[in-house]
Amino acid sequence: MTEPTAIALAQPLNPAPQMAPAALPTGAQLVLRVMPMPADANANGDVFGGWIMAQVDLAGAVLPARIAKGRIATVAVNQFIFKQPVSIGDLLSFYANVTRVGRTSVTVHVEVYAERNPAELQVVKVTEANLTYVAIDGQGQPRALPT
Ligand SMILES: CC(C)(COP(=O)(O)OP(=O)(O)OC[C@H]1O[C@@H](n2cnc3c(N)ncnc32)[C@H](O)[C@@H]1OP(=O)(O)O)[C@@H](O)C(=O)NCCC(=O)NCCS
Repeated sequence: MTEPTAIALAQPLNPAPQMAPAALPTGAQLVLRVMPMPADANANGDVFGGWIMAQVDLAGAVLPARIAKGRIATVAVNQFIFKQPVSIGDLLSFYANVTRVGRTSVTVHVEVYAERNPAELQVVKVTEANLTYVAIDGQGQPRALPT
């Protein structure tokens, strides 16, 4: 299967005046793309933060799962920043890069970008987080990462 690319996000941007143009993360991989639906909204009509956190957890697990070559568990979310609200219909792209590989754990940095207003495209960095995943064995205990 061909890896998805960031071509759409690399097109010239026309951000709203109050928003800095998003700079794509260097050395990061696109691991998930998803669009929130009305069922994912909070009482304000923005997307529920817990829904975004779940997507970040899923996206963050992609590279550690490849490295661990087996079962993993999220052990820590050491930083989670909601920089901008997410709206229904935003196309969210999740980029991840591995920041640490330990004996049993892998830490990744995840950045989330929203593409909105297709007629006059804006790309906004909405969220970023650091997550650590541990390779676990059949008993749920940490196991050494394969070499
Ligand atoms: C993941 C789990 C098996 C780890 O067991 P543990 O006995 O705490 O593991 P250890 O103390 O031996 O640490 C294992 C690795 O995790 C890392 N780690 C542990 N706590 C951490 C933290 N707060 N932040 C970052 N890394 C951490 C350790 O540094 C170690 O990495 P290394 O071997 O690469 O150096 C256990 O904590 C667990 O089952 N947690 C629940 C997981 C889960 O249900 N996740 C979903 C949450 S909804």
